[in-house]
Amino acid sequence: MTGAASLGARAAPSTSKVEVDISHRYGPLVVHEELRFSVMENEFLCVSGPSGCGKTTLLDILAGILQPSEGQVLIDGRPVDPKRDRISFVFQEPSTLPWLNVWDNVATGLRIKKVATPVMRRKVDEIIEIVGLRDYETYYPHQISGGMKQRVAIARAFAIDADLILMDEPFVSLDQPTRERMQREVLHIWEHRRRTVVFVTHNLEEAVFLGDRVVVLSSKPARIVAEIDVPLARPRNPLSHEFTHIRATCADIMHTLGVRPPRNATIPKVTS
Ligand SMILES: Nc1ncnc2c1ncn2[C@@H]1O[C@H](COP(=O)(O)OP(=O)(O)OP(=O)(O)O)[C@@H](O)[C@H]1O
Ligand SMILES: [Mg+2]
Repeated sequence: MTGAASLGARAAPSTSKVEVDISHRYGPLVVHEELRFSVMENEFLCVSGPSGCGKTTLLDILAGILQPSEGQVLIDGRPVDPKRDRISFVFQEPSTLPWLNVWDNVATGLRIKKVATPVMRRKVDEIIEIVGLRDYETYYPHQISGGMKQRVAIARAFAIDADLILMDEPFVSLDQPTRERMQREVLHIWEHRRRTVVFVTHNLEEAVFLGDRVVVLSSKPARIVAEIDVPLARPRNPLSHEFTHIRATCADIMHTLGVRPPRNATIPKVTS
């Protein structure tokens, strides 16, 4: 990518799962201009960029629920099709169904995909165990905390054998300790259930803590201004020299774009 910064060599994965080559406008408003990138099979890709630059719009296009003005998104070499491809979305606000208990909320995606009942039971039980909601299966959303609701939404996203999991600032409304715990938990789930993930965040610490790679977008019209590899073993130590260096590189790029870091940008603590 011309003009894009790249740091370090990325180990596997090497098979491209998603190919993006789009431009998008809403009427006269040009949101994305020749946005081109790939997401590798089972990669955890973080996307960061200024507020309003078109990150949510990008996720909608990746999900196949919004057609780009030009170009296309390919999943496994075919144009994305939300009816065929298994795509999970985790939103900023936890999107639980209030009339279903935790177990049934987690099972929703599998029911929609008409997965056979014994397989569904096994998959839901497994993922509930991984996210630590075993004792809360019969609770309803109003009986659990915001962090637990988001865990339900994440469990639901990982329960189906998703081709692609899209996460749009899923921890932004959580308090900082809960956010840090959720960051560790989402990595824990992803390490058990490798999937291709595109995770949008304003928070550079979060991006470097989670991602195999960080794609930084400019403000509208959004273009890729940097693709930064994060070749650090997990769990990452945000106080390490390498982590600090990569975060500083991202911050410099954002700074040159005129983006101020969010007020709640603090370094996630790693206890291991
Ligand atoms: N349905 C729509 N119709 C017209 N304009 C839209 C629509 N959706 C988004 N926009 C505009 O497109 C631009 C990109 O919006 P988008 O929500 O994708 O940005 P974002 O990067 O996700 O922002 P934030 O960081 O605040 O979440 C904004 O200027 C927004 O006002
Ligand atoms: Mg958004």
